[in-house]
Amino acid sequence: MTVEARFAGLRERIESQLDAALPSPTDDPRRLHQAMRHSVLGGGKRMRPLLVHAAGAVFGADPHHLDAPAMAVELIHAYSLVHDDLPAMDDDALRRGKPTTHIAFDEATAILAGDALQSRAYSLLAEAPLPAELRVQCLQTLAHAAGAAGMCGGQALDIDATGQMQSLQALTRMHALKTGALIRAAVRMGALCGQAPVAELQRLDRFADALGLAFQVRDDILDVEASSEQLGKTAGKDVAQDKSTFPALLGMEGAKARLRELSAAMDEALAGYGEEADALRALGRLAVERDH
Ligand code: IPE
Ligand code: IPE
Ligand code: MG
Ligand code: MG
Ligand code: MG
Repeated sequence: MTVEARFAGLRERIESQLDAALPSPTDDPRRLHQAMRHSVLGGGKRMRPLLVHAAGAVFGADPHHLDAPAMAVELIHAYSLVHDDLPAMDDDALRRGKPTTHIAFDEATAILAGDALQSRAYSLLAEAPLPAELRVQCLQTLAHAAGAAGMCGGQALDIDATGQMQSLQALTRMHALKTGALIRAAVRMGALCGQAPVAELQRLDRFADALGLAFQVRDDILDVEASSEQLGKTAGKDVAQDKSTFPALLGMEGAKARLRELSAAMDEALAGYGEEADALRALGRLAVERDH
């Protein structure tokens, strides 16, 4: 089976499990439940759950063990997008080809939907059919990545840096936190579920760090080069809002050169593995070559 066919099958599996994990749109409070479902279902590349499965596959993890971590990281990601799009943050009206949650519903409902998605992520992990020690390790990994030392911290740096020129070091740190942290957690949870030894976890961290940074550099490039139709979200927002980005700091050619370096770093981190890491390699390529 080709890697693409494997991903298509996994995306279907992830979609139907997310559907089942979210509250019913006909149960009260219906508006909240509908907003949660709007925010998660029927869109998105599912990059982070695919990374959980691909990292698990390197170590022969039981796919059933990977389902809960895969869903949990996608729910945290979806919540981060709902809040990222709020008027107080990036003030966006389009996401995954649909109106953003606060536009389709209202701001209060969007805030609450994000909060409730975050809770659901952790309850899924807490209830996962995994050995207790693994459940705790996954909870710890995801909570650390989502919080002040990870995604939320990076989002705070993003807000602080808006309208300002940052050093390359500061910009790299901001990207590593706001986007890299959840990507690293996805890879790590997959590897943990495969009982990967510590040295292997560290190798995969190096891969994930390069992929996470590449993913956000590519996001910054697409914001300039792609259309809103292509992206399913408003293009040109970063320049319009004077966001601190790689193309703004290094120029478009500089940002693309950085992507090539990150590709090489990903290859190098996975050099010791054989075909068991092919799905991870394919996701690395997707991060740097994606057109939406
Ligand atoms: C968008 O993430 C926000 C970033 C962290 C760059 P994705 O590009 O993974 O968005 P979806 O999940 O496919 O919509
Ligand atoms: C968002 O970065 C990263 C998150 C933690 C949500 P962006 O603000 O660049 O993401 P998009 O471009 O709105 O998807
Ligand atoms: Mg943002
Ligand atoms: Mg945004
Ligand atoms: Mg962006």
